[in-house]
Amino acid sequence: MRTLELFETPAQNLRLGPSAIVLREFALPYMSELMTAIEAITAVSPFRYMVTPGGFTMSVALTNCGSLGWTTDRRGYRYISHDPDTGKPWPVMPEVFTRLASDAATNAGYDNFEPDACLVNRYLPGSRLSLHQDKNERDYEHPIVSVSLGMRAKFQFGGHARTDPTVKVPLHHGDVVVWGGTDRLRYHGVMPLQDDPHPLLGSQRINFTFRKAG
Ligand code: SIN
Ligand code: FE2
Repeated sequence: MRTLELFETPAQNLRLGPSAIVLREFALPYMSELMTAIEAITAVSPFRYMVTPGGFTMSVALTNCGSLGWTTDRRGYRYISHDPDTGKPWPVMPEVFTRLASDAATNAGYDNFEPDACLVNRYLPGSRLSLHQDKNERDYEHPIVSVSLGMRAKFQFGGHARTDPTVKVPLHHGDVVVWGGTDRLRYHGVMPLQDDPHPLLGSQRINFTFRKAG
């Protein structure tokens, strides 16, 4: 009977490092609340394409919620409290977001995770995110919690140097990746998205990453 239970597991979690894990389908029970919350956020602070300090327009569109939001322009990458397009504070982080972030962090071994920043990324077919480290936060004590919705993507997870080999992990609707501790500064990115429409979200992938930034 015990061996049967193994096969009944719908999806296997995947360990990416001593302090990094993919929690398969962890966000599914939160889904209807998440969709409503995302609509409310993007109605106030719509998705937009930002420019990197090097002058390139990102292929991923983004917005934020929470007391701090990640932005980029010609002057650099940083967290700010107001949406530069509307001049208003970023939308408040919905309760379902904080609950999901904290539940996922606890599940991955990080108790009492209280994010103050949520970056919401929208990928369309062809969108990609080149290898980078998340290092605009004030300290690296807290984990990153990253939720995937919609079309699947190939997530790259590398080492502490840009040139280190990467593993390529397919992420599906509902998967949550958590990385912290000794894995907190590992390079990661997303390969160009293929057009494989999702029943709920169509030809897009929404990702949101929770951080304690300030
Ligand atoms: C990010 O690194 O900010 C996003 C990762 C992802 O879209 O899965
Ligand atoms: Fe990142």
